[in-house]
Amino acid sequence: MLKDLFIGLSQNQFLNSAAKKYGLKLGAQSVVAGTNIEETIRSIKELNAQGISCTVDNLGEFVYKREEATEAKEQILEVIEAIHENKADAHISLKPTQLGLDIDYNFCLENLREIVGRASKYDMFINIDMEDYSHLQPSFDLLDELSKEYSNVGTVIQAYFYRAEEDIKKYKDYRLRIVKGAYKEPEEYAYQDKKDIDTNFVKLIEWHLLNGKFTSIATHDHHVINHVKEFVKANNIPNDKFEFQMLYGFRKDMQLQLAKEGYNFTTYVPFGKDWYGYFMRRLAERPQNLNLVAKQVFTK
Ligand code: FDA
Repeated sequence: MLKDLFIGLSQNQFLNSAAKKYGLKLGAQSVVAGTNIEETIRSIKELNAQGISCTVDNLGEFVYKREEATEAKEQILEVIEAIHENKADAHISLKPTQLGLDIDYNFCLENLREIVGRASKYDMFINIDMEDYSHLQPSFDLLDELSKEYSNVGTVIQAYFYRAEEDIKKYKDYRLRIVKGAYKEPEEYAYQDKKDIDTNFVKLIEWHLLNGKFTSIATHDHHVINHVKEFVKANNIPNDKFEFQMLYGFRKDMQLQLAKEGYNFTTYVPFGKDWYGYFMRRLAERPQNLNLVAKQVFTK
């Protein structure tokens, strides 16, 4: 299946490192905001001008060297400063494996502590993105540890995991982003059937909207978005209790429309040289995105 092929390609470490040497290729430029902070701040300001807030992801994964994790931390600190200096409406999304989770848990925790501490000075939120199952519990452990000191941190609940319901209940007092889940996971831990994932996704969103702190509904699925609009209306849930989120470059008209309708809207803005794995996962989710690749190849 194409999905499995692209997920496999996204995890190919040789291709991941080879791609870093080149700029954005294969159409990745339509879904990645830039390779440096200046370009990214420009993109964020353009979105802000249209009433859209941003969460910024300095792309990177498969980090097994301390120097690389430290470099990623420094870049994220620079992004935090740039957001603050430019008075941009944005916060940070980050991946623990980029900050050394596969090297040493405590090393990763220290990196995160520095980032969350710096962001807290500016009252800026840090979202810990969720990766594959093998990193799920350690990522929650990082969140537990960080929230002993800071309140500007939250995470993601992936609806394809059987344990998601238990997790959402445990973390109800956090700002949570709820997603379907992007990685290939075995039947042992995760629903495989799209219908089961979608059903659990809606169930978790409704639960957190009713019982939780702030809910970020992250999806391009208009069926789910329309359902949420009806649900919040029927349950008198005010707009300041939730937002919609989509990825940069996807369904741009719908992003604008939702912002115009008065909903809080945040675009997930990825940037950086490490674009390959992210781009392959987007192709896995929606093979129609191959149109992006085809256009680039044939318009060269
Ligand atoms: P899905 O791909 O299931 O599509 C459902 C339907 O929506 C389609 O059949 C089609 O009708 C419509 N549709 C979808 N995309 C469309 C498009 N581009 N144009 C037109 N119609 C379209 N995952 C993870 O594991 N960890 C994480 O931390 C995150 N973080 C994250 C942040 C944000 C902001 C988003 C949007 C997503 C994530 N994800 C994630 C990814 C997430 O888990 C999931 O893999 C993708 O969002 C794809 O699922 P969707 O809910 O978007 O719809």
